Amino acid sequence: MLDLQNKHIVLGLTGGIACYKAAELCRGLIKQGASVQVVMTESATQFITAVTMQALSNRAVYVSQWDAREPNNMAHINLSREADAILVAPASADFMAKLLHGRADDLLSLMCLARPLGEVPLILAPAMNREMWINPATQRNVAQLTQDGALVLDVGQGDQACGETGDGRMLEPDEIVQDLIAAFQTKLLAGCKVLVTAGPTYEAIDPVRGITNLSSGKMGFAIARAAHEAGAEVTVIAGPVHLPTPRGVNRVDVRSAQDMHGAVMSRVKEASVFVATAAVADWRVAHVAEQKIKKTAKGEAPDLQFTENPDILGEVAKSGRAQSGALFCVGFAAESHDLQKHAQAKREKKGVPLLVGNIGPATFGSDENALLLVDAKGVQEIPQANKLELARKLVAEIAQRMKH
Ligand code: CTP
Repeated sequence: MLDLQNKHIVLGLTGGIACYKAAELCRGLIKQGASVQVVMTESATQFITAVTMQALSNRAVYVSQWDAREPNNMAHINLSREADAILVAPASADFMAKLLHGRADDLLSLMCLARPLGEVPLILAPAMNREMWINPATQRNVAQLTQDGALVLDVGQGDQACGETGDGRMLEPDEIVQDLIAAFQTKLLAGCKVLVTAGPTYEAIDPVRGITNLSSGKMGFAIARAAHEAGAEVTVIAGPVHLPTPRGVNRVDVRSAQDMHGAVMSRVKEASVFVATAAVADWRVAHVAEQKIKKTAKGEAPDLQFTENPDILGEVAKSGRAQSGALFCVGFAAESHDLQKHAQAKREKKGVPLLVGNIGPATFGSDENALLLVDAKGVQEIPQANKLELARKLVAEIAQRMKH
């Protein structure tokens, strides 16, 4: 199932050069399964044509409140009643100022005012010159619009069409799509701070060689994204992985198990949830060679000694905050066989309220997985699905257990 399946989005365009990104945004929304009704202000039509937006959305575009195509001539009522959300991108400084006052002298502002407040969220993606953005009038308007219930997205940073550099660019289309998807998720973890470990660790042998494993970090990153979508403040401590950081998630990159241990211990004191998905190396080489180990004439293999790494989850689970219930710990177990038996044993051993088992070798690097949740009450299966879908379900299970 696509993330915006069955969602009907009114995409509003107001006057700004970022209108050129709205074409890509429209496609991005449709790719995620949404149907899109484009509504443009007169100023927006100076930057991109209604023809372009009609072709991309496969629907006639509305510009005027006097559009006679609607039988009752009430486009502002009809279009806003069928919407699951109104997304204004770009939202110009002038348009936001107008919304703030509840003015309604064109179709788009009229629709925003006429939308059923509790049912149709209004999401604004501002776009303007950096001086306009930091102007107290704009900042005041953003604050007031937020208080009035609109979701005002961040702005991007960088080169602007005017030649200046700073804050005020419209977010990229895929960033807006991600933020919109997040806006539709229930805020089950609002106010929570979530710490996630993800990926493999890398244990050096010498300056050029090391020991690692096949963990891709995808499950951990999906959990970080799902927790953020659920309203939590999220930090992911990532071993060496090649994954983009989910929007809104803080990321700390580490290499070895010891680095990961340090990064977790310094942050876990503030967390209310700790999810350990990382495939942490159990052992590290006791003496890392300072120089590259060379082959010997006799062809002898190097004599490597190993030392046990700290058990990050085990240590966190023993802490006072975890024991008192102030910190909810979730462990993962990647097993090759007898999943239920091993997962139950691992939950006891690690001393965590919830342990998530999965068949390791088959899912490493894959976009799909299936999970077995083990807690004090028993086991529960979350069947095969893509990792983001599983992560959202797991987040809901965590939120549910934290309530008790
Ligand atoms: N874990 C950890 N620190 C370690 C080892 C594991 O935090 N040094 C965490 C993992 O992130 C995972 C859980 O502990 O959430 C289980 O990891 P696993 O390696 O499967 O368990 P082990 O205790 O190492 O048991 P075994 O290797 O014998 O299966």
